[in-house]
Formats: sequence, structure tokens, C-alpha cells
Amino acid sequence: MDSDPATETQRHSLATLGLGPDKADLAQAAEILREGGLVAFPTETVYGLGADARNAEAVARIYEAKGRPSFNPLIVHVGSFEAAGEIAVLDRASKAVARVLWPGPLTLVLPVREGSGLSSLVTAGLPSVAVRMPAGKVAQRLLEAFGGPIAAPSANPSGRVSPTTASHVFSGLSGKIDAVIDGGACVVGLESTIIDLTGTPRLLRAGGVPVEEIEALIRTSLIAPLPGEQPTAPGQLASHYAPKGRVRLGAETAEPGETHLGFGAVTGDLTLSETGDLKEAATRLFDCLHKIDAMNATRIAVAPVPREGLGRAINDRLERAAAPRAE
Ligand code: TXA
Ligand code: MG
Repeated sequence: MDSDPATETQRHSLATLGLGPDKADLAQAAEILREGGLVAFPTETVYGLGADARNAEAVARIYEAKGRPSFNPLIVHVGSFEAAGEIAVLDRASKAVARVLWPGPLTLVLPVREGSGLSSLVTAGLPSVAVRMPAGKVAQRLLEAFGGPIAAPSANPSGRVSPTTASHVFSGLSGKIDAVIDGGACVVGLESTIIDLTGTPRLLRAGGVPVEEIEALIRTSLIAPLPGEQPTAPGQLASHYAPKGRVRLGAETAEPGETHLGFGAVTGDLTLSETGDLKEAATRLFDCLHKIDAMNATRIAVAPVPREGLGRAINDRLERAAAPRAE
């Protein structure tokens, strides 16, 4: 054997820089993005792994760092309505939704504008693009300092739990990305709601904005994907949000050997929300799953969570976490 594992690791690893949210650090982060580097940054939903959305090589590095299947298109983050209009075509209906819910945890799938300059890797070759204007202040300041669209999936290795703190990002991607901006814990704690507005409005992923709120705005119900239908948002693959242990849902009580994640009256070993507050549960969901991973739990029981408002997105994530996986 002539390959020394230590040298091998060194050859493929970067020193991942820890940055803060102040102006000088954000200017440095913007410079790294301009040079085609990868910067993880906080948004109000989860931490994103950002790259210049117009630089194909930089975007390719996202897939590489995450070990993500390359057919997954990415969300493009913008800092203003004007910037959204430069990459996508917003008709009256999408403008109406965007005006009320942007900035915020909502992603709109829209027709790509001709001459958008986006790398086709970002859209995975689709004629549509997923666009989001984040509400998180650090994300907004980074977008402003960079002055262009930032492609960013959640900053976790593919198939693992989404990060809601800088230390989650470090534990998953340290050595694989250029920098992490620490802006504290994410306030929403689960990803954006994704709706497709390229045709009849469709829900692609439940998330930070309750579906009911969007339906009230567009005055029609969103078509949800049929069970068993080919997912149109490839991130919707069955076992996408997987902790390491096996997950059992709807568990009022735990069996011997199970780590119990509680909610409301079901206390558990740790809880999504002692008071049964769905917003708090959403914020804590991925953090709890990370904690359970850190405890090396092999079997996880999760208390029932009601399916209303944010509970729908929480159950969606939990069902993916519980889905059978290909090893
Ligand atoms: O809250 C969020 O949305 C976070 C933060 C970082 O903004 N981002 C995030 O990105 O969750 P990601 O890459 O983990 O999820 C993107 C989802 C995937 O399910 C992808 O398939 C879908 O968006 N998507 C992207 N472009 C699409 C398109 N053109 N048509 C349909 N689905 C698309
Ligand atoms: Mg993700």
C-alpha cells in the first residue's frame, strides 16, 4: 500500500473558515463566492450552502461537497424583487404572492428568464427555476455584499438532517467547503414551502409558510402530489431527512431500547415542544434529530404531531425520516 490515508485526506480537504456576521466578514464571504468558492450561511429556515448561481463550476462543487445526486435542481436566493425578475418570469399571480410572502420562507418555481445567466446545473436543465428571497438578515446582507444570485441547498451532506446552527454545518461539511458564517440558530428551523407557479399552482414541499396562508392568497387550493406520483421536487425522495437510527412514528409510549422524541403531553427523552406549540416544534425538529444522532440512538420513537398548519410540514419531514432506505 503506498497511499497514506492522512495525506489522502489532506489532498481533498480545505481548511473551512469560520466567519461572523459583521460587515468585514460578509465582504470576505462575498469575495469567496466571486472566486467560485462555497460559503455556508444562515437563513431564517436552515443554513444554506451557497455558490454563485451563474458559475457552473462553483455550483458543481455544491453537489460534490454534499454528495448530492446531480439531478436535484437548487434554490436560487435573491436579495430583491428586481433581482428575482432578472432570472425568472413573474406573472401577476406570482407577483401577488411574492409581494405578501417575500422576504420569507417561501420558494416559487417560475419560468426561467431568457438570458438569466444562470448555470444550467442550478436548474438541472429544467425550463423552470426555484427562487427565494430570504428574510434572514445575515442572508440579506450577504446577498447585498455579493450583488448576484446565490444557489443554495441546505448545508448538510445529502440525505442527512438539515442544519439549523453553524456547528451542525461544521460537523457535516468541515473540510469540504470554504467558509461558514455563524449567524446563530435559524428562527423557522425547517425549509421553505415550495410551490410551482409555472402552471396550475402546485405544492411541491410543505415548509415554513403554512399552505393555508398561500391558498388564502391565491384563492384556490394547491394541488398536492398524488401518492406514488413521480416527485417533481427531487428533494422529495422518500428517505431525504434521515437520522441514523430507525424511526417509528405516532408513538405515545416508547418500547425498551427506543429513544423517545416527545410532543405536548407525551414527554419523551427529549421533546419537540413541551407545550405542544407547532412553531416551537418546527424550530426544534432538526436540532432534536441531530441530538438523537449524537446520542447514537439506533431506534427512535416519535410522539404524534397534529397535521394542521406547520404540523403538516413537520409530519412530512418525519415521514421521510421514517421511510425505508436503500443502504
Ligand atoms: O429553506 C430552504 O428552502 C433552504 C434554504 C437554504 O433556503 N434550501 C433548501 O434547498 O431547502 P434544497 O436544495 O435542500 O431543496 C430544494 C428543493 C429540492 O426539493 C429541489 O428538487 C426543488 O427545491 N427544486 C429546485 N428547483 C426546482 C425546479 N425548477 N422545479 C421543481 N423543484 C425544484
Ligand atoms: Mg435539503
